Amino acid sequence: MHMHKMEKIWLFIGIGTLILFLAIVGVNAFYMGNKPPSCIATINPDRVSSTPPFNHPGVKQIGKNHYQVTVVASAFSFDPGDIKIPLGAKVDFVAATKDVVHGFEIAKTDVNFMIEPGYISTYSTTFKKPGEYLLLCNEYCGTGHQLMATKLEVVG
Ligand code: CUA
Repeated sequence: MHMHKMEKIWLFIGIGTLILFLAIVGVNAFYMGNKPPSCIATINPDRVSSTPPFNHPGVKQIGKNHYQVTVVASAFSFDPGDIKIPLGAKVDFVAATKDVVHGFEIAKTDVNFMIEPGYISTYSTTFKKPGEYLLLCNEYCGTGHQLMATKLEVVG
């Protein structure tokens, strides 16, 4: 079968456009599925307990009026169990999971992110009101999901 030169060119342009389109869609799907915006750094989920800073979960002062709260999530609890932070301080949450996907939500605040196996999630905030807050898991993670919560105290 004989094809005209112009037909061949148009065929190539058509195939080329299709490939480019599929590549863009594929790349977007990959990033959206694997990289939530709050998760940049990666971690081996099997070694969370021995990887700094997760080998020492808890509250640590890292600057003047600036604290880092390291949290390890696992079915079905948060470590540390009780978190105490001063009112008005900048708080950087750094979280990782030892097993499945968990949620990290502090009721009545803007803190709400996912913790995915293999990634380190971070979120910064400042608490404007003193009192007791509820830190809870809002991603279904198994039979004990409803029990996965702890309290956070903002001391002013
Ligand atoms: Cu952890 Cu639901």
